[in-house]
Amino acid sequence: MAWTDYSTAPAPGTPICTTEQVGRVLSVGVNTANGCFPLLVVRVGEAFRAYVNACPHQYLPLDYRGTQLLSADGTMLLCTAHGARFNLATGAAVDGVDCGLDPVPVAVTDQMLIIGAPS
Ligand code: FES
Repeated sequence: MAWTDYSTAPAPGTPICTTEQVGRVLSVGVNTANGCFPLLVVRVGEAFRAYVNACPHQYLPLDYRGTQLLSADGTMLLCTAHGARFNLATGAAVDGVDCGLDPVPVAVTDQMLIIGAPS
């Protein structure tokens, strides 16, 4: 399911958080008129990537059972529910599931991370 299929999908330009708040990885709910959209934001070098915070295994949030979402080497996102692993930079499945995380476009403006335009 693409992120734009969620009833709570935020409109392009919706503010998410400041870039400082992201750290290495941040689980955040983006409030919309239709409810809260679950988002994971990660820092990859100088860039930011974001994914719907719904693991394709059982559609639980990756931080369902804890907050340790980064692998020890910092290259993978971990699902705390049953241990699926995803490439940090692409969201592609590495281990435990067949499909990857749904990427969400983001952009930075004035130190704020915002939802980008769908491609
Ligand atoms: S819900 Fe993520 S591994 Fe099961």
